[in-house]
Amino acid sequence: MSEPTLRVLYGSQTGTAQDTAQRIARQGRRRQLQVQVLPLDSYNVANLISESLVIIVCSTTGQGDPPDNMKNFWRFIFKKSLPVGSLSRLDCAVLGLGDSSYPKFNFVAKKLHKRLMQLGASTLLPVGLADDQHDLGADAVIDPWLTSLWANLFALYPSLAEVIPLREDEAGIAVSRLCFLLDEREDRLRIPTEQTAPSQLHPFPSRLLSNRRVTDTSHFQDVRHIEFDITGSNIEFAAGDVVMMFPRNAPEDVQQFCQLLRIDPEARFTLRDVTCGNTRLPQPCTVRHLMERYLDIAAVPRRSFFELLSTFATDELEHEKLVEFSSAAGQEELHIYCNRPRRTALEVLADFPHTTAELKVDYLLDLFPEIQPRSFSIASSLQAHPNRLQILVAVVRYKTKMHKQREGLCSTWLASLNPEQGDVSVPLWVKKGSLRFPKEKDTPVIMVGPGTGVAPFRSALQERIAEGKNANVLFFGCRSESKDFYFGSEWEEMMKAGHLSLFTAFSRDQEEKVYVQQRVRENAELLWDLIANKGACFYIAGNAKQMPASVCDALKEVFQQEGGVSAEEAEQMLTAMERTGRLQSETWS
Ligand code: 2AM
Repeated sequence: MSEPTLRVLYGSQTGTAQDTAQRIARQGRRRQLQVQVLPLDSYNVANLISESLVIIVCSTTGQGDPPDNMKNFWRFIFKKSLPVGSLSRLDCAVLGLGDSSYPKFNFVAKKLHKRLMQLGASTLLPVGLADDQHDLGADAVIDPWLTSLWANLFALYPSLAEVIPLREDEAGIAVSRLCFLLDEREDRLRIPTEQTAPSQLHPFPSRLLSNRRVTDTSHFQDVRHIEFDITGSNIEFAAGDVVMMFPRNAPEDVQQFCQLLRIDPEARFTLRDVTCGNTRLPQPCTVRHLMERYLDIAAVPRRSFFELLSTFATDELEHEKLVEFSSAAGQEELHIYCNRPRRTALEVLADFPHTTAELKVDYLLDLFPEIQPRSFSIASSLQAHPNRLQILVAVVRYKTKMHKQREGLCSTWLASLNPEQGDVSVPLWVKKGSLRFPKEKDTPVIMVGPGTGVAPFRSALQERIAEGKNANVLFFGCRSESKDFYFGSEWEEMMKAGHLSLFTAFSRDQEEKVYVQQRVRENAELLWDLIANKGACFYIAGNAKQMPASVCDALKEVFQQEGGVSAEEAEQMLTAMERTGRLQSETWS
């Protein structure tokens, strides 16, 4: 049998599945297969019927949901009208990326695999279930899975080439070649036409209006209230929606990168042989633009990065170390060197200066994953602030075990923007969020949002008050009334106007810590009345890991105490509320 084209399709939310798909593609090309890599939603699903070799890599998000870029595929593949046996030509393999600390571990991969079998496809090997919770990361599952995959494919297509050593076939493995040009044309930012709603490919260049610190300067955390002007954007949003944007690498990091690679940041190139949809890049593009806005050099690199880097190493010591880091036996070493201190790809390059100087620019798109967009809960409403969009951002800074300060890419970039330094443009678009607020005027809402978790609730309160919905209860928690009580005066005004009941938990203003869940317990009678008699909806948002579970426990106690139900019945009530959308949560870490 002659080898068919291998399609590697992925559904990726944070980029891990995409990275893994590209790694599989590289391995396939080294076996001289024709390979195409695509996000599932960019693939014409109807073609599956005539396909003979497909590998799908997909992650599971939220409560067992498929990633955004495979939602259409997901709907299609589960259509009842698809005839059983329609995929009988297909040999396929499904690799799932998940996290076993979430309840529906790898649900999407398992369900998809089952469905493909039901439609008559043959499987090359059992579905792979990689687990991010594992000590050595997902690679502990992915590597042996890939070894079996290639062995089984080899058995099926004996004419497949043995692995070609990377160095001998550099041209064959670059995902997208960069072609450097001497071209004087300006790069053009794509500005959306008036009719289209801004999207990932066509974000709206909003103007930064303000960027204000809302925590006291003596407070440990820098939290920003940031406002964008979206006039003329066609952007519409409701409470609970999120705004998306691409962060940028720091100019000094880009500078360092170019120095390490000895490339001119102003050099221009065009992309040739684009196989993985790099349409976000202007054509032609400068190296500076590519490095600042597109390639993620601030993330902790994955094992495949070391694998590829090792092929460029001519310095013996560096080569030896890189090969060790790429090998199965070297994974613990790699974990200690890289993952634990959260070393960035740029720092790794600086640790391997000889190899870095040898790097071919053609491989930049293979080496670094694409910067992924970040999302923020919108903290304002269009009714209260027409043509404006506001967010609340905690600037992420933390120390690792090596005591080196680490910074969140997006929040640090946002915090660095100063509206007084001319027109600062931030390209953005909005997405439907998971929180939905009741349409009925009289349905009360109870919102629990400590810290920046209050952002979507500020939006909801502004929207609801503008619509005359005045049954609103907010539980807010922070460390201290004087240091991080954001929007305190706004809540006060809403209370004065009779639009809000506010309960605060200032955790560190007294000896004993007080958290929002304690306030929930203390107000059992009110909450029971709102939920049991007035049909209230209950919302939880925030980033404290234990907080949502603790608030749910407090709510169950309220049910038991005020409703006289058993622990089991209280649990059932909570589950029923969740099922009917009367209990919703949005949490992040
Ligand atoms: P702490 O930092 O004093 O522990 C916003 O971050 C607020 O959430 C802070 O007051 C913080 O308190 C509090 N918080 C931390 N962990 C929490 C938890 N498990 N449940 C509820 N609130 C928590």
